[in-house]
Amino acid sequence: MIQNIDQGSEQAPSFHKSPFLELGSSTRDERGRVISDLQSNSTTQWEANTIYYEFSVAVAPKLPKIPCITFDRELHQQETTAIIPLDLSPQLQSIAPATTPVISAYFLHICPQESLKTNSLATAQLFYVIRGRGKTESEYGTMEWSKGDLFTLPSCGEVIHSSSEDTAIYWVTDAALVNYLGVRPTKPRFQPCLYPGDRIFSELKQIAQEPGASKRNRIGVLFGNKATQLTCSLTHTLWALMVYLPGGTEQKPHRHNSVALDLVIDAPESAYTLVGKSLDAEGKIVNGERIYWKSGSVFVTPPGLWHSHHNDSDRDAFILPIQDAAFQSYMRTLNQRWSYTLNG
Ligand SMILES: [Fe+2]
Repeated sequence: MIQNIDQGSEQAPSFHKSPFLELGSSTRDERGRVISDLQSNSTTQWEANTIYYEFSVAVAPKLPKIPCITFDRELHQQETTAIIPLDLSPQLQSIAPATTPVISAYFLHICPQESLKTNSLATAQLFYVIRGRGKTESEYGTMEWSKGDLFTLPSCGEVIHSSSEDTAIYWVTDAALVNYLGVRPTKPRFQPCLYPGDRIFSELKQIAQEPGASKRNRIGVLFGNKATQLTCSLTHTLWALMVYLPGGTEQKPHRHNSVALDLVIDAPESAYTLVGKSLDAEGKIVNGERIYWKSGSVFVTPPGLWHSHHNDSDRDAFILPIQDAAFQSYMRTLNQRWSYTLNG
């Protein structure tokens, strides 16, 4: 016989009699964590570090927000050879130097005729030569580079960068993610690549001159690798794009769940990115914050926020956004949204 508990039965459902609810008293702290005498009675070490959360207070934990912030070019305009972390780990409560939850980024400054060693547990490394000339030696051989070149390395041991003139390099890795996972790379996920600066700009020029290019809201060249064609990206975790924003133009708002770390390649200082939480009925950002561009500086665009790029001057502008978008694409969580159609 089936008992109908909605019709006046004074018997509680059977799960209310479950013995595990009678094991001991417990209270909850402000974060919904169970403080129970079960823990003090624990007989195994494996139970000592457990926490039991009440669902409604813990299902959407309030993590520290990723700030809208600029790392000024003065950080790499210094007199000593140094690795300069673009470190937001205190703000992110990260366990290791991190610029985003996935990415650890740095400026490298190398004085003329000096060398600098880098060593990272990253599975992907990007180097963009902001200024200078020199070479990089690693287990994959020697790479010669000059201003405007971009190159990548997979996981590897010590890397030595030597300069023949004053050099600044933007070094972006996925070490933050690797550190968070507590793992060590075991094999390279791609082969090293070099994207020479003159080739980057000839590709960009060709795209800009394609029929219908002026109707596109964005003129940019995405960097790819034969090993990562699934995600059409620089590496399996990192994504990079060279953007051309002609004078007197703007890119309408878009958003994505990846964090962007934009290096300003060359731009008038009146150019800016507008960042905000919402759009109005005309698709414009409401109460946006302006981040002004400064050549050689890096600015952070937090995930999920609408942003648009603006160049009101008569001078062309170029920026290099680097994101964890390859990892997000693979996770199927990138969630790119535009306030417009991609082809005008
Ligand atoms: Fe973006």
